[in-house]
Amino acid sequence: MVGSLTILGLESSCDDTAAAVLRRDDTGRTRILSSVVKGQTSLHADFGGVVPEIAARAHAELLDHCVEEALAQAGCAVPDIDAFAVTAGPGLIGGVVSGVMCAKGLAAATGRPLYGINHLAGHALTPRLTDDIAYPYLMLLVSGGHCQFLIVKDPETFQRLGGTIDDAPGEAFDKVARLVGLPQPGGPAVERAAGQGCAKRFALPRPLLDRPNCELSFSGLKTAVLRARDAVISEHDGLPDGLRRDLCAGFQTAVVDVLAEKTRRALTQYLQLNPAQPTVCVAGGVAANTAIRAALETVASDHNCAFVAPPLALCTDNAAMIAFAGLEQMALRAPDDFTLSARPRWPLDRSSQPMLGSGKKGAKA
Ligand code: KG4
Ligand code: ZN
Repeated sequence: MVGSLTILGLESSCDDTAAAVLRRDDTGRTRILSSVVKGQTSLHADFGGVVPEIAARAHAELLDHCVEEALAQAGCAVPDIDAFAVTAGPGLIGGVVSGVMCAKGLAAATGRPLYGINHLAGHALTPRLTDDIAYPYLMLLVSGGHCQFLIVKDPETFQRLGGTIDDAPGEAFDKVARLVGLPQPGGPAVERAAGQGCAKRFALPRPLLDRPNCELSFSGLKTAVLRARDAVISEHDGLPDGLRRDLCAGFQTAVVDVLAEKTRRALTQYLQLNPAQPTVCVAGGVAANTAIRAALETVASDHNCAFVAPPLALCTDNAAMIAFAGLEQMALRAPDDFTLSARPRWPLDRSSQPMLGSGKKGAKA
């Protein structure tokens, strides 16, 4: 490679508006010069979930500010940017359209190339940005909108080994938080409560463990929590704090058990295909959960595999991962033109059947 390359990435597919500037130097090393993320949690707090119309309006208002901040923090101006990368799906369509339009404007004004990026590819490629690992590797993507096992073969080739057939785990954490009266986002609140509870008090199911594949399901588990909660309420005339903590602990342990066992299966499948590259990675907001991380780490070490979990700020939605995916894909394909459109659904693995379900954060593709 001759000279350095500076790329600006944009992300607006759910409830975080983000911009980032990355530079790849002539040795191929990539640095994050800035990564700005503006969340919208407070805008959606009264509604118990992300409201697509509110999210889209907020993205349209925040994108320019994010770009300005990201450029200022990187010590760059628009003409210094060599290429633009933007999430073009999957996600909440209004937000994705806002990002794509903003990126098209920047590309048109500067004459620089434009790359539409699959949001899931951004997550899946992050371990290469943070830990410089080689292709291929196994990735478990677990967030509020996604849950799938992928073999990442190159910046554009992903093989899905399995995924959720209904809710994503983060979505289940959020719903359980709502059921037991804890705040959103539910993951951290449920994890805190679970830390002080007894996981054995409630017998909750481990969905789909009886099937030998890597498919997952979390909606029945959530319904089981609802039933257990209702039984407690009718017996105690309310939900005592101790039992709330026990319910959270039981739920979290069920999720841990399911994710660990399915990861074991995915890893076995992966290692049969790629014995020379024993690496398993996790990304997505749910990867913040200490119990889940620890269980996955154990699965990896049981199989003599390296385990990579990017720092939390790069596990949750951000634009650095989109800019990085742009850098990775530039070597392989031509830029997009101005017919680039926003896609609510966009399966990463083009050869697999589409997944079922469509959660609060858009299609699980
Ligand atoms: O990756 P992310 O920021 O957004 C997308 O869904 O793309 O993930 C957010 C999800 C939320 O559902 C949140 O409840 C969950 O990740 N989460 C957690 C934890 N922290 C965040 N789930 C379990 N335990 C946590 N500590
Ligand atoms: Zn995401």
